[in-house]
Amino acid sequence: MYRINENYLKLPGSYLFSTIGKKVAAFSEEHPQASIIRLGIGDVTQPIVPAIIEALHHAVDEMGCAKTFHGYAPDQGYEFLRKAIAENDFQARGCDISPDEVFVSDGAKCDSGNIQEIFASDLKIAVCDPVYPVYVDTNVMAGRTGTYDAKTETWSDVIYMPCTEATGFVPELPKETPDLIYLCFPNNPTGAVLTKDQLQRWVDYANSRGAVIIYDAAYEAYITEENVPHTIFQCEGARTCAIELRSFSKNAGFTGLRLGATIIPKDLKCGETMLHSLWARRHGTKYNGAPYIVQRAGEAVYSDTAKVQLKEQIAYYQKNAQTIYNGLKDAGYSVSGGVNSPYIWLKTPDKMTSWEFFDFLLENANVVGTPGSGFGPSGEGYFRLTAFGTYENTLEAVERIKRI
Ligand code: MLT
Repeated sequence: MYRINENYLKLPGSYLFSTIGKKVAAFSEEHPQASIIRLGIGDVTQPIVPAIIEALHHAVDEMGCAKTFHGYAPDQGYEFLRKAIAENDFQARGCDISPDEVFVSDGAKCDSGNIQEIFASDLKIAVCDPVYPVYVDTNVMAGRTGTYDAKTETWSDVIYMPCTEATGFVPELPKETPDLIYLCFPNNPTGAVLTKDQLQRWVDYANSRGAVIIYDAAYEAYITEENVPHTIFQCEGARTCAIELRSFSKNAGFTGLRLGATIIPKDLKCGETMLHSLWARRHGTKYNGAPYIVQRAGEAVYSDTAKVQLKEQIAYYQKNAQTIYNGLKDAGYSVSGGVNSPYIWLKTPDKMTSWEFFDFLLENANVVGTPGSGFGPSGEGYFRLTAFGTYENTLEAVERIKRI
């Protein structure tokens, strides 16, 4: 008689964005006339820029010709893309990362969920609270998180690092020593950032404790301030303690195309074993690579023409972020984020819970956001809005929120 992975049964409710999707669908069915503005999940709305579309077309044509056709991609990804990533995202910033330390994948979400597989099942993880739910949920599935306390909405074996108004929405070094530390900066969901010095403290801490930092840099393209690092490898010593996750979703609009990369330096070792070798083994066994045409599109992200076009696209979303930030501030809301990030983090008014405010906003303004408590207990009383809508919808949403 077979048995199931009972860790799955420990997971409370459904995945945050699935729950929101279902609630919005039910509301929409009940109110077919409502014109709903979706500023919930961080999904982009602007089309892929022309320079990348051109590269896609070219790659599609190549696939139709025997001489230029491509079958399975190399395990780690095509050299042309790994080279472009290493040169542009790392070497250009003075970071010592080589193409063979880059693993191409179909997105940072999968990598951020899968990376825990190469670690022992009894390791202790530390996460920011609030946090992108994938980091915790995938460790629950792996049986690493202990028991769930529905009252506190926390797991017994997870170290939570509260990121609240009192801490400036950044984590403090935990009292209990973790083995794996998940950091995402610019942060999802709060939009907060760590300065270079602050991140250096984490790198020094991880090296001194023999911990690994899983650093999610999905939102780095939104950084506007000088002293904010674009990659953890700008910090001294990161090569011996950090893995970085990169995404093409938010900087180039690939949420539908799917492309990401994970960087594992060869200096990152557990005893004599390189984590790089373990991830390479996993990739080889479980993964057949992102499609050739998408990897060519990823390469095009780094062309001079695309860089100009993408700068404009990011500026478009940044303007949305400012519109939300300033509009809500003017309306008396307490807001943060939005400066180095496409996410605006606001305090719910009148002591409403995050879900109460979700319903209130959906019913009265037909605007969808993400309840802060969905990201962890310290997110209670907060709400996230994304800048990835169209400008017109963003403006309209802010006006509607101001009116209620
Ligand atoms: C979010 O809304 O938090 C993100 O879009 C989720 C993701 O990138 O998977």
